[in-house]
Amino acid sequence: MSTTVNMWLGIAFVVLALLAVLLQSWLWSYPMVPPDDPRGRSLAPARWVNLHRALGVAYAVIYVVLMVQMVPRLWLYQVELPARTVVHAVMAITIGVLLLTKVAIIRFFRHFGKSLPSIGLGIFLCTIILTTLSVPFAIRAHTLERNLTDPAERKRIETVLASIPWKEDGVEVDVTKVAGIDSLLLGRRVLTEKCVACHDMRTILARPRAARGWWELVVRMAEKPSFGRPITVEEQVAVTAYLVALSPEIQESVSRKRSGEKRQDDNAEEAKRLGDLPVVFDMAEAKALYEKECSQCHKLAKVEAWGRHTADEWRQMVVQMIEENEAELRPEQVRVISAYLAATRGPTP
Ligand code: HEC
Ligand code: HEC
Repeated sequence: MSTTVNMWLGIAFVVLALLAVLLQSWLWSYPMVPPDDPRGRSLAPARWVNLHRALGVAYAVIYVVLMVQMVPRLWLYQVELPARTVVHAVMAITIGVLLLTKVAIIRFFRHFGKSLPSIGLGIFLCTIILTTLSVPFAIRAHTLERNLTDPAERKRIETVLASIPWKEDGVEVDVTKVAGIDSLLLGRRVLTEKCVACHDMRTILARPRAARGWWELVVRMAEKPSFGRPITVEEQVAVTAYLVALSPEIQESVSRKRSGEKRQDDNAEEAKRLGDLPVVFDMAEAKALYEKECSQCHKLAKVEAWGRHTADEWRQMVVQMIEENEAELRPEQVRVISAYLAATRGPTP
């Protein structure tokens, strides 16, 4: 089953858990006969008790369906298990244990009945932790339609895809076709079915990359020995296009505050040093360069929303893109783009 189905199952999983817990806390407000005897019969309306039971059964069914798929996948993962995957797995197992305990109490050990609400709450908490570790990334992998209704976004994808040197890698690519909906949907299928065979979605969507970076990554991944069906060249191209389409979403969620040391980049250093020299540039060429390079990971609107700034401030921002986000720009390009931005989006006189 693909990440798409699992995403919906995951969402249903949380919703069921939430409803069951809310219903439970209401049902337990009814007294028991005889009073306060955990073995007694609750005076809560039977219809709602049955609904709670049905929610529980649906939840358990989804749990089993997900576990049957996830457990074998853990063995196929080729990367070291990151801490979040370990927490994810521990939560999943804990839920299983709690579910079994709950069933055992209801069937055989009614005298422990008073602990049922806390077990229910425990299951709910584990569900929340479990799903916040995975569902947001699955959802992020699916934000396609929103982007494609926007013609500017369509154009961004085409421009960015045209900047990949496909021919050098011996691949014939029709950029308009690859940026089309059919190819993008194929790309999404590859991402949600094949790319998650050896690691999780978060590994893939942790940060945006420039188009060429995505393409090189995908080719490298396709060369890895795999148990499943290999990723064909057509699929490699499609998934690259899809990752390009997805990059603005990924960029949005990359936290602006990044900890850790800044990567010292030669290009960034040199661009800083060259900063004080005057720049001669052709307006039309500079515009094309800016549109091509700065739309790789986010929309140009993002850049424009930053406001009006001097050439110096623009250069610092572009250098930041290189140092923190691994944009690939030569010093000369940094200067031209900063000068162009200062000319078009400079401080108002
Ligand atoms: C056959 C197993 C396998 C498949 C299929 C696979 N990967 Fe990977 N991936 C790996 C391994 C192993 C690593 C860690 C070592 C490395 O980086 O090469 C990795 C690492 C990564 C990384 C982090 C490395 C980095 O440079 O940031 C990303 C991103 C990634 N994969 C994306 C993808 C994408 C996109 C696909 C689908 C086109 C994919 N993977 C399919 C095995 C796989
Ligand atoms: C490799 C990906 C990548 C490329 C290429 C890239 N950016 Fe960014 N950009 C990001 C990421 C990630 C963020 C959000 C985090 C941050 O601000 O560092 C961002 C944010 C921004 C912001 C918003 C900052 C704010 O405070 O709101 C501006 C402005 C910006 N980029 C300008 C540019 C310009 C100009 C270029 C072209 C030279 C460019 N970017 C190219 C990845 C990229």
